[in-house]
Amino acid sequence: MRVVLCGSTEETGQYAAQIIADRIVEGPCTLGLATGSSPLPVYRELIRRHRQSGLSFAQCVAFTLDEYVGLDPQDSRSYRATIRSDFVDHVDLAPEALHSPRAQDGDATALSTAAAQYERCIADAGGIDVQLLGIGGNGHIGFNEPSSSLASRTRIKALTRETRDANARFFEDDETVPSLCLTQGLGTILDSAHAVLLAQGESKAAAVRASVEGPVSAACPASALQLHPRATFILDPAAASALENLDYYQHVQALNDELGLRPLGRPLHSVRSLCESSVSD
Ligand code: F6R
Repeated sequence: MRVVLCGSTEETGQYAAQIIADRIVEGPCTLGLATGSSPLPVYRELIRRHRQSGLSFAQCVAFTLDEYVGLDPQDSRSYRATIRSDFVDHVDLAPEALHSPRAQDGDATALSTAAAQYERCIADAGGIDVQLLGIGGNGHIGFNEPSSSLASRTRIKALTRETRDANARFFEDDETVPSLCLTQGLGTILDSAHAVLLAQGESKAAAVRASVEGPVSAACPASALQLHPRATFILDPAAASALENLDYYQHVQALNDELGLRPLGRPLHSVRSLCESSVSD
Protein backbone atom coordinates (compact mmCIF):
# COMPACT_ATOMS: atom_id res chain seq x y z
CA MET A 1 0.00 0.00 0.00
CA ARG A 2 1.37 3.39 -0.93
CA VAL A 3 0.41 6.62 0.82
CA VAL A 4 1.11 9.66 -1.34
CA LEU A 5 1.05 12.99 0.47
CA CYS A 6 0.22 15.86 -1.86
CA GLY A 7 0.41 19.56 -1.17
CA SER A 8 -3.02 20.43 -2.56
CA THR A 9 -6.21 19.09 -4.09
CA GLU A 10 -4.98 19.90 -7.58
CA GLU A 11 -1.78 17.97 -6.92
CA THR A 12 -3.80 14.85 -6.01
CA GLY A 13 -5.36 15.09 -9.46
CA GLN A 14 -2.00 15.55 -11.19
CA TYR A 15 -0.54 12.54 -9.44
CA ALA A 16 -3.45 10.24 -10.31
CA ALA A 17 -3.56 11.57 -13.89
CA GLN A 18 0.12 10.67 -14.25
CA ILE A 19 -0.63 7.09 -13.17
CA ILE A 20 -3.33 6.86 -15.85
CA ALA A 21 -1.18 8.53 -18.52
CA ASP A 22 1.68 6.13 -17.79
CA ARG A 23 -0.66 3.17 -18.14
CA ILE A 24 -2.17 4.45 -21.40
CA VAL A 25 1.29 4.76 -22.93
CA GLU A 26 1.73 1.01 -22.40
CA GLY A 27 -1.25 0.16 -24.66
CA PRO A 28 -5.00 -0.50 -24.59
CA CYS A 29 -6.27 0.22 -21.14
CA THR A 30 -9.40 -0.40 -19.09
CA LEU A 31 -10.24 2.36 -16.65
CA GLY A 32 -12.55 2.19 -13.64
CA LEU A 33 -14.17 5.58 -13.09
CA ALA A 34 -15.60 7.00 -9.89
CA THR A 35 -18.09 9.86 -9.71
CA GLY A 36 -18.38 12.51 -7.01
CA SER A 37 -16.06 15.34 -6.02
CA SER A 38 -12.88 13.37 -5.27
CA PRO A 39 -11.88 12.41 -8.85
CA LEU A 40 -12.74 15.81 -10.38
CA PRO A 41 -9.13 17.11 -10.18
CA VAL A 42 -8.01 13.95 -12.04
CA TYR A 43 -10.58 14.47 -14.77
CA ARG A 44 -9.63 18.16 -15.07
CA GLU A 45 -5.97 17.21 -15.48
CA LEU A 46 -6.69 14.40 -17.98
CA ILE A 47 -8.86 16.74 -20.06
CA ARG A 48 -6.10 19.36 -19.95
CA ARG A 49 -3.51 16.81 -21.13
CA HIS A 50 -5.86 15.59 -23.87
CA ARG A 51 -6.29 19.14 -25.17
CA GLN A 52 -2.74 20.37 -24.70
CA SER A 53 -0.55 17.30 -25.18
CA GLY A 54 -2.80 14.97 -27.17
CA LEU A 55 -3.19 12.32 -24.45
CA SER A 56 -5.60 9.94 -26.18
CA PHE A 57 -8.26 7.68 -24.70
CA ALA A 58 -9.18 6.17 -28.07
CA GLN A 59 -7.78 2.79 -27.03
CA CYS A 60 -9.44 2.86 -23.60
CA VAL A 61 -12.54 1.17 -22.28
CA ALA A 62 -14.16 2.54 -19.11
CA PHE A 63 -16.45 1.13 -16.41
CA THR A 64 -18.22 3.27 -13.85
CA LEU A 65 -18.08 2.04 -10.27
CA ASP A 66 -21.74 2.30 -9.51
CA GLU A 67 -25.15 3.65 -10.50
CA TYR A 68 -28.33 4.70 -8.71
CA VAL A 69 -31.31 2.41 -9.13
CA GLY A 70 -34.31 3.92 -10.88
CA LEU A 71 -32.71 6.83 -12.73
CA ASP A 72 -32.77 6.95 -16.50
CA PRO A 73 -29.18 6.93 -17.87
CA GLN A 74 -30.05 10.25 -19.60
CA ASP A 75 -31.02 11.81 -16.25
CA SER A 76 -28.31 14.36 -15.48
CA ARG A 77 -28.08 13.01 -11.90
CA SER A 78 -27.36 9.45 -13.02
CA TYR A 79 -23.72 8.46 -12.62
CA ARG A 80 -23.53 7.61 -16.32
CA ALA A 81 -24.57 11.14 -17.28
CA THR A 82 -22.33 12.64 -14.59
CA ILE A 83 -19.21 10.80 -15.72
CA ARG A 84 -19.95 11.89 -19.28
CA SER A 85 -20.27 15.55 -18.40
CA ASP A 86 -17.34 15.51 -15.94
CA PHE A 87 -14.94 13.61 -18.19
CA VAL A 88 -15.89 11.38 -21.10
CA ASP A 89 -17.56 14.04 -23.29
CA HIS A 90 -14.35 16.13 -23.17
CA VAL A 91 -11.92 13.47 -24.40
CA ASP A 92 -11.76 10.99 -27.29
CA LEU A 93 -13.05 7.96 -25.40
CA ALA A 94 -15.62 6.37 -27.73
CA PRO A 95 -19.17 6.71 -26.29
CA GLU A 96 -19.72 2.95 -26.74
CA ALA A 97 -16.56 2.28 -24.72
CA LEU A 98 -18.21 3.69 -21.57
CA HIS A 99 -19.97 1.00 -19.55
CA SER A 100 -22.18 1.44 -16.51
CA PRO A 101 -24.50 -0.92 -14.62
CA ARG A 102 -28.03 -1.02 -16.09
CA ALA A 103 -29.91 0.11 -13.02
CA GLN A 104 -32.88 2.03 -14.38
CA ASP A 105 -35.25 -0.91 -13.91
CA GLY A 106 -35.99 -1.29 -10.19
CA ASP A 107 -37.17 -4.91 -10.49
CA ALA A 108 -34.97 -7.14 -8.27
CA THR A 109 -34.55 -9.90 -10.87
CA ALA A 110 -33.62 -7.43 -13.60
CA LEU A 111 -31.11 -5.76 -11.27
CA SER A 112 -29.47 -9.05 -10.30
CA THR A 113 -29.21 -9.98 -13.98
CA ALA A 114 -27.72 -6.57 -14.78
CA ALA A 115 -25.18 -6.97 -11.95
CA ALA A 116 -24.07 -10.38 -13.22
CA GLN A 117 -23.85 -9.00 -16.79
CA TYR A 118 -21.68 -6.14 -15.56
CA GLU A 119 -19.24 -8.55 -13.93
CA ARG A 120 -19.06 -10.55 -17.19
CA CYS A 121 -18.53 -7.40 -19.21
CA ILE A 122 -15.59 -6.36 -16.98
CA ALA A 123 -14.11 -9.86 -17.25
CA ASP A 124 -14.57 -9.85 -21.05
CA ALA A 125 -12.64 -6.57 -21.20
CA GLY A 126 -9.76 -8.32 -19.44
CA GLY A 127 -10.35 -6.71 -16.03
CA ILE A 128 -9.74 -3.15 -14.88
CA ASP A 129 -6.21 -1.77 -15.18
CA VAL A 130 -6.58 1.42 -13.13
CA GLN A 131 -9.54 1.79 -10.78
CA LEU A 132 -10.14 5.32 -9.50
CA LEU A 133 -11.88 5.54 -6.13
CA GLY A 134 -13.18 8.16 -3.74
CA ILE A 135 -14.03 7.34 -0.14
CA GLY A 136 -17.14 8.09 1.88
CA GLY A 137 -16.96 9.59 5.36
CA ASN A 138 -18.04 6.14 6.62
CA GLY A 139 -15.25 4.39 4.69
CA HIS A 140 -17.33 3.19 1.73
CA ILE A 141 -15.74 2.71 -1.68
CA GLY A 142 -18.03 2.39 -4.64
CA PHE A 143 -21.30 2.11 -2.78
CA ASN A 144 -20.02 -0.72 -0.61
CA GLU A 145 -21.39 0.53 2.65
CA PRO A 146 -20.10 -0.70 6.05
CA SER A 147 -20.89 -4.42 6.51
CA SER A 148 -20.23 -5.16 2.81
CA SER A 149 -18.59 -8.53 2.25
CA LEU A 150 -14.90 -8.18 1.44
CA ALA A 151 -15.50 -10.76 -1.32
CA SER A 152 -18.59 -9.06 -2.78
CA ARG A 153 -19.17 -8.65 -6.52
CA THR A 154 -21.41 -6.19 -8.39
CA ARG A 155 -24.81 -6.26 -6.73
CA ILE A 156 -27.72 -4.24 -5.34
CA LYS A 157 -26.93 -2.25 -2.20
CA ALA A 158 -29.01 0.00 0.02
CA LEU A 159 -27.38 3.38 0.68
CA THR A 160 -26.92 4.50 4.27
CA ARG A 161 -28.62 7.63 5.57
CA GLU A 162 -25.17 9.27 5.78
CA THR A 163 -24.44 8.58 2.10
CA ARG A 164 -27.87 9.79 1.02
CA ASP A 165 -27.37 12.99 3.03
CA ALA A 166 -23.92 13.51 1.51
CA ASN A 167 -25.35 13.13 -2.00
CA ALA A 168 -28.49 15.18 -1.38
CA ARG A 169 -26.68 18.20 -2.88
CA PHE A 170 -27.35 16.75 -6.35
CA PHE A 171 -31.10 16.28 -5.76
CA GLU A 172 -34.02 18.54 -4.84
CA ASP A 173 -34.10 17.25 -1.28
CA ASP A 174 -32.90 14.35 0.87
CA GLU A 175 -35.98 12.28 0.16
CA THR A 176 -35.47 12.20 -3.62
CA VAL A 177 -31.96 10.70 -3.33
CA PRO A 178 -32.34 7.10 -4.54
CA SER A 179 -32.04 4.60 -1.72
CA LEU A 180 -30.68 1.73 -3.82
CA CYS A 181 -27.77 1.34 -6.20
CA LEU A 182 -25.85 -1.20 -8.22
CA THR A 183 -22.19 -1.13 -7.24
CA GLN A 184 -19.07 -3.03 -8.09
CA GLY A 185 -18.25 -5.18 -5.08
CA LEU A 186 -15.16 -5.06 -2.90
CA GLY A 187 -14.02 -8.29 -4.55
CA THR A 188 -14.47 -6.65 -7.97
CA ILE A 189 -12.39 -3.67 -6.87
CA LEU A 190 -9.72 -5.93 -5.37
CA ASP A 191 -9.37 -7.62 -8.78
CA SER A 192 -8.26 -4.37 -10.45
CA ALA A 193 -4.58 -4.21 -11.37
CA HIS A 194 -4.07 -0.87 -9.60
CA ALA A 195 -6.53 0.74 -7.16
CA VAL A 196 -6.03 4.49 -6.87
CA LEU A 197 -7.98 6.20 -4.09
CA LEU A 198 -8.16 9.99 -3.81
CA ALA A 199 -9.22 11.79 -0.66
CA GLN A 200 -9.29 15.50 0.00
CA GLY A 201 -10.55 17.46 2.98
CA GLU A 202 -10.84 16.95 6.71
CA SER A 203 -14.20 15.18 6.41
CA LYS A 204 -12.32 12.19 4.95
CA ALA A 205 -9.47 12.13 7.50
CA ALA A 206 -10.99 9.62 9.95
CA ALA A 207 -12.04 7.24 7.15
CA VAL A 208 -8.58 7.47 5.57
CA ARG A 209 -6.94 6.65 8.87
CA ALA A 210 -9.25 3.67 9.50
CA SER A 211 -8.62 2.39 5.96
CA VAL A 212 -4.83 2.70 6.01
CA GLU A 213 -4.01 2.04 9.65
CA GLY A 214 -7.04 0.29 11.11
CA PRO A 215 -7.86 -3.41 10.97
CA VAL A 216 -9.17 -4.93 7.73
CA SER A 217 -12.85 -4.95 8.48
CA ALA A 218 -16.23 -4.88 6.78
CA ALA A 219 -16.97 -1.99 9.17
CA CYS A 220 -14.62 0.14 7.05
CA PRO A 221 -14.94 -1.14 3.46
CA ALA A 222 -11.92 0.81 2.14
CA SER A 223 -9.71 -1.13 4.60
CA ALA A 224 -10.13 -4.05 2.15
CA LEU A 225 -7.56 -2.21 0.01
CA GLN A 226 -4.92 -3.39 2.51
CA LEU A 227 -5.41 -6.75 0.78
CA HIS A 228 -4.81 -5.24 -2.67
CA PRO A 229 -1.34 -5.93 -4.10
CA ARG A 230 -1.16 -2.45 -5.61
CA ALA A 231 -3.23 0.20 -3.85
CA THR A 232 -2.30 3.88 -3.79
CA PHE A 233 -3.92 6.43 -1.46
CA ILE A 234 -3.42 9.96 -2.79
CA LEU A 235 -4.17 12.50 -0.08
CA ASP A 236 -4.23 16.23 0.38
CA PRO A 237 -2.93 17.57 3.71
CA ALA A 238 -6.36 17.68 5.39
CA ALA A 239 -7.27 14.11 4.38
CA ALA A 240 -3.89 12.91 5.68
CA SER A 241 -4.10 14.87 8.91
CA ALA A 242 -5.35 12.05 11.18
CA LEU A 243 -2.78 9.45 10.08
CA GLU A 244 -0.84 8.15 13.05
CA ASN A 245 2.24 7.23 11.03
CA LEU A 246 2.34 10.44 9.03
CA ASP A 247 6.00 10.96 9.92
CA TYR A 248 6.86 7.59 8.40
CA TYR A 249 4.96 8.27 5.15
CA GLN A 250 6.72 11.65 4.90
CA HIS A 251 10.05 9.94 5.50
CA VAL A 252 9.37 7.38 2.76
CA GLN A 253 8.32 10.13 0.39
CA ALA A 254 11.49 12.10 1.14
CA LEU A 255 13.58 8.99 0.43
CA ASN A 256 11.73 8.49 -2.83
CA ASP A 257 12.41 12.14 -3.70
CA GLU A 258 16.09 11.64 -2.95
CA LEU A 259 16.16 8.58 -5.18
CA GLY A 260 14.47 10.60 -7.91
CA LEU A 261 11.43 8.35 -7.83
CA ARG A 262 8.76 10.96 -7.30
CA PRO A 263 7.04 11.85 -10.56
CA LEU A 264 5.66 15.32 -9.99
CA GLY A 265 8.13 17.95 -11.04
CA ARG A 266 10.59 15.27 -12.10
CA PRO A 267 9.81 14.59 -15.74
CA LEU A 268 12.61 12.04 -16.14
CA HIS A 269 10.91 9.56 -13.86
CA SER A 270 7.47 8.12 -14.31
CA VAL A 271 4.98 6.91 -11.74
CA ARG A 272 5.71 3.41 -13.00
CA SER A 273 9.24 3.56 -11.69
CA LEU A 274 7.93 4.97 -8.42
CA CYS A 275 5.46 2.13 -8.01
CA GLU A 276 7.92 -0.58 -8.88
CA SER A 277 10.99 0.54 -7.05
CA SER A 278 10.13 2.92 -4.26
CA VAL A 279 11.50 2.08 -0.87
CA SER A 280 8.25 0.92 0.70
CA ASP A 281 4.91 -0.38 -0.42
C1 F6R B 1 -18.76 7.39 -6.52
C2 F6R B 1 -18.57 6.46 -5.43
C3 F6R B 1 -18.45 6.89 -4.01
C4 F6R B 1 -17.73 8.23 -3.83
C5 F6R B 1 -17.70 8.63 -2.35
C6 F6R B 1 -17.02 9.96 -2.15
O1 F6R B 1 -18.82 6.69 -7.75
O2 F6R B 1 -18.56 5.31 -5.68
O3 F6R B 1 -17.76 5.91 -3.28
O4 F6R B 1 -16.43 8.12 -4.34
O5 F6R B 1 -18.99 8.68 -1.86
O6 F6R B 1 -17.76 10.95 -2.75
P1 F6R B 1 -17.14 12.40 -2.98
O7 F6R B 1 -15.98 12.20 -3.86
O8 F6R B 1 -18.23 13.18 -3.67
O9 F6R B 1 -16.78 12.91 -1.64
